[in-house]
Amino acid sequence: MAKTRIQFICQACGTIHTRWAGKCDGCGEWNTLVEDGTQGGVGGGPQALRSPRKGRPVALTTLSGDIEDAPRIASGIAELDRATGGGFVRGSALLVGGDPGIGKSTLLMQAAAALARKGHRIVYVSGEEAVAQVRLRAQRLGAADSPVELAAETNVEDILATLADGRRPDLVILDSIQTLWTDIAESAPGTVTQVRASAQQLIRYAKSTGAAIVLVGHVTKEGQIAGPRVVEHMVDAVLYFEGEGGHHYRILRTVKNRFGPTDEIGVFEMSDMGLREVANPSELFLGERSAQAPGAAVFAGMEGTRPVLVEIQALVAPSSLGTPRRAVVGWDSARLSMVLAVLEAHCAVRLGQHDVYLNVAGGYRIGEPAADLAVAAALVSSLTGLALPADCVYFGEISLSGAIRPVAHALQRLKEAEKLGFAQAVLPAGPEEPVGGMGGRSFQPATLADLVIRIAGSRLKRAGNDD
Ligand code: TYD
Ligand code: MG
Repeated sequence: MAKTRIQFICQACGTIHTRWAGKCDGCGEWNTLVEDGTQGGVGGGPQALRSPRKGRPVALTTLSGDIEDAPRIASGIAELDRATGGGFVRGSALLVGGDPGIGKSTLLMQAAAALARKGHRIVYVSGEEAVAQVRLRAQRLGAADSPVELAAETNVEDILATLADGRRPDLVILDSIQTLWTDIAESAPGTVTQVRASAQQLIRYAKSTGAAIVLVGHVTKEGQIAGPRVVEHMVDAVLYFEGEGGHHYRILRTVKNRFGPTDEIGVFEMSDMGLREVANPSELFLGERSAQAPGAAVFAGMEGTRPVLVEIQALVAPSSLGTPRRAVVGWDSARLSMVLAVLEAHCAVRLGQHDVYLNVAGGYRIGEPAADLAVAAALVSSLTGLALPADCVYFGEISLSGAIRPVAHALQRLKEAEKLGFAQAVLPAGPEEPVGGMGGRSFQPATLADLVIRIAGSRLKRAGNDD
């Protein structure tokens, strides 16, 4: 008889512990360890050791050979296909993670309907909602007439038996991974063991049949239910669906992709008819700009292969506190401290007695260091009360010495800015020289001090910055 081994698994990161503890050594989270009695574990631990199964030879094959279908199934939803790198890959597993209510089920239902209409066999398995609820959503999305095959089921063995029946599906959507459970694991649905074992079986199904599968996973803050992180390393690609509270747009971000680029985003807007593609995100993030407000600078950024223009807003105000406030939304606060330090040390811009607030418009998040120059411009503009030219974009990285360093894709950034009606740019001098319309009116400062002088002139001294 196999002896039951007691172990404790962290529900946040999946680390296995032999004894209970309040805090997980793996991720440092508290109260996330859950007892897990396994009969030799999934896939057989001690039991397998006692009576090793005799191996079965597998057929070896060559690298060249027939590939039956087109390797990818494009959904026709351009923003989704951009994020996946050209469509769902046959025989692969894709994880779509995100906060509850962000729109994962909506996006996948829209994709399922589009693909089914093109003649693909699409199976949508809902473990969270009853058939009636899914139908209701499909009606709202105008997808009710598409031949998507629907089931409300949570047992993996039942799901696999259902899929084995009839023509092999092209795409199977499992919504969500946290509701699935398999007979081979003994713990409750939603625990790390169940989520892993269920995902493992479904991924094996995808690899052996060539069907593409999509696993939906909720990101949970408490870590009580196993989050998508525990299956991230098992799947071929991971997309996260993100959005800011109060904003209607959603960003589908590629986090991992074995078959494509990982720095792409797809942009959508949630409407009452479902998700709408946003082909030109710059227009969305620039929003309604008031031309003459000091403290606003437009950053010409890049998301993967796509330029994105976004407004950076700064507010610099005299502080009444001993330690002035620094608050940042949408950018790295350590990066802001660095830009402030360079302004103080190399440009004689004194901000030690000022509160500094920085906001990226539209709730967008910038990850690029290329935003340094736009941030510095916005800060100096707010401090001096001098508005920046409304038709100017900024990009460039600032080094600690105060020099402006070149960044990649300068021409693409300029082209996007020109397309949206901007006429001048402040950018680093670099290998890619600006040409065309923007070329004549661009300014390429060698150091941050050059830019400060251009924006503020002699104004900084009068603004009480000469102490
Ligand atoms: P849903 O896809 O159920 O989110 P998830 O699967 O990520 O939990 O989307 C839920 C939210 O989207 C819900 O608050 C309602 C909203 N919504 C719309 O605004 N318009 C629509 O057409 C649909 C279907 C949903
Ligand atoms: Mg859902």
